[in-house]
Amino acid sequence: MINSDLLSRAQAVLRANNAGAFTQPGPRQYPHQWNWDSAVVALGLSHFDLPRALAEIRSLIGGQWRDGMIPHVVYHTGPSDYFPDPGFWQIENSPNAPGVATSGITQPPILATIVRRIHAHTPISGFLRQAYPSLLHWHRWLHTARDVDGSGLACLIHPWESGTDDSPRWLRAMACITPIDLPAYRRGDTAHVAPGERPHDTDYERFVHLIDVFRRARYDPSALLARSPFLVQDVLFNSILYRADDDLRALAVELGEPTGEIDHWQRSLRERFDARFWDEARGLYFDYDMRVGAPIAVNTAMAFMPLYAGLASDIQAHRLIYEHWLNPVEYAPDDVVRHQITTTSKAEPAWEARRYWRGPVWIILNWLLADGLRRYGFNDLAEALRRDSLELITRSGFREYYDPRDGSGCGSTDFSWSAALAIELLNAS
Ligand code: DGY
Repeated sequence: MINSDLLSRAQAVLRANNAGAFTQPGPRQYPHQWNWDSAVVALGLSHFDLPRALAEIRSLIGGQWRDGMIPHVVYHTGPSDYFPDPGFWQIENSPNAPGVATSGITQPPILATIVRRIHAHTPISGFLRQAYPSLLHWHRWLHTARDVDGSGLACLIHPWESGTDDSPRWLRAMACITPIDLPAYRRGDTAHVAPGERPHDTDYERFVHLIDVFRRARYDPSALLARSPFLVQDVLFNSILYRADDDLRALAVELGEPTGEIDHWQRSLRERFDARFWDEARGLYFDYDMRVGAPIAVNTAMAFMPLYAGLASDIQAHRLIYEHWLNPVEYAPDDVVRHQITTTSKAEPAWEARRYWRGPVWIILNWLLADGLRRYGFNDLAEALRRDSLELITRSGFREYYDPRDGSGCGSTDFSWSAALAIELLNAS
């Protein structure tokens, strides 16, 4: 039975965070439009306010660059106390920049999946026809401008593109970056959220340094790949991309559009995926550092994401679940984890229970992974994850992330995608 109190509280969060053309991910901490947040928010909205859901997607697509990139942030409302402010990106130096202020990088491409999902419960055929060319353009950009080695895998040039900014997966790559001649900047994020729940200053110095490299390259896509000191192929991003290609393809079929190009992207990504990411000895998927030329052998929840994409074989799925999910290595004996799934394994020395992507539970990962678990028939595990997510939200509110030891909330309050996913998870009951 649907918990109607939780449902109406979730709807109230999405109403309160309405900023007109878009929804703020968090009222103070994130006052602009973020790419994958916005897509997830649209899904939540679609259950009770379809026009606003479609407006959300339209305004995100409104930030699309001429070459196809849909950026990670769109600044519809000018500067705020959020850093980086729109001017910091200097995107006007790129011939590809759109007419609206945006960041100069992208984020996990979940939008096509969300559009298809909305269409499945509430047909939006007219909207599909409008949105499809933009989605196709973005995917084409990901599979070409971001395919550095002809593998069909997309690469990332900034940790923010991964959506998992300060994940310990990036520690080695970040340690190789020397942030020299940094432009002046002031962090805004620690004004609203406890510094212990946000990335370290050393991460921010490198985040800023990378933006400075991109500004100097005027966002020329090939110069970015050549010059970015951070260049990785990421399991989470490519799993989301592959699944979104599936969904884009289904939309193409429905619209009578050709599918050959999408088939080609999927075939090459699938053929390369295991060789690049699967570690047969450990039974885990690891990201790949293109600058170092080696896998990033850090144990995080992202290792399970090929389940969501349907890219794991049954044997790989079995190993992931029986060797890792049900049997996690625990090297931090004082931290008893009661909630799943921790973003970072406790086996990792960089584990921190309350710091951003260093340990906490995020509802988005739980939602993606519950989907992946169900896909491989692990229905009880999926249901346990769904229930635990709802319990966390019921107990601690719509927080950005949660401490896996006691379930207390961390980061932004009134967080939009936690509200949107609560609506989605309740509807799935
Ligand atoms: C932030 O500011 O923390 C965002 O994740 C960057 O996109």
